[in-house]
Amino acid sequence: MIKDLITKNRTYRRFHQEFEIRHETLRELVGLARLSASAANLQPLKYILSCDSQRNALIFSCLAWAGYLKDWPGPCEGERPSAYIIILGDTKISQSFGCDHGIAAQSILMGARDRGLGGCMIGSVRREQLRKDLDVPSRYEILLVLALGKPKETVVIEAVGPNGDIKYWRDSEGIHHVPKRSLDEIIIS
Ligand SMILES: Cc1cc2nc3c(=O)[nH]c(=O)nc-3n(C[C@H](O)[C@H](O)[C@H](O)COP(=O)(O)O)c2cc1C
Repeated sequence: MIKDLITKNRTYRRFHQEFEIRHETLRELVGLARLSASAANLQPLKYILSCDSQRNALIFSCLAWAGYLKDWPGPCEGERPSAYIIILGDTKISQSFGCDHGIAAQSILMGARDRGLGGCMIGSVRREQLRKDLDVPSRYEILLVLALGKPKETVVIEAVGPNGDIKYWRDSEGIHHVPKRSLDEIIIS
């Protein structure tokens, strides 16, 4: 079960934009992050939720998509995410957030996948623009943006080839391929 879910939990970047994700669903997903591990149990993460089209458009304009797909600028209108969860670090609680936000992001995306949704962690964010557009107070560090929606693309995992290239790529049918290193390569002893 867990292997199936992790295998299905790929990064998706094209969605059925018309599919609505309710605010309550976003709250439930953050509820999974709330139960996740946190260094020293400080729980310094805070969240901004968005599932309305105006706010979504502001967030979308601050994101960079799929750096390896040089001729693809990101999802077109109609294929954009239906919702976002922005993960913030509260500097009044901690000055460093370690890997808390990665763990929280994984919990949220696993929960989304379990509900038939999918998404993308986005670290490449125009943070100052996003802060200004959403009026994010300076005490919060913008750590990650999670884009969420009903996936509209097929993503497959494949072995890294003999040339060692790890760049994901998209074939002529629009299928997105993600090379993963072998177990023998990553377990060193
Ligand atoms: C911390 C982090 C930041 C990421 N930032 C971006 C990003 O800015 N834009 C993007 O399109 N994908 C981003 N990704 C998604 C990765 O490109 C993706 O995880 C990788 O290609 C492997 O695909 P997979 O998630 O299906 O295994 C990010 C992933 C992680 C873990």
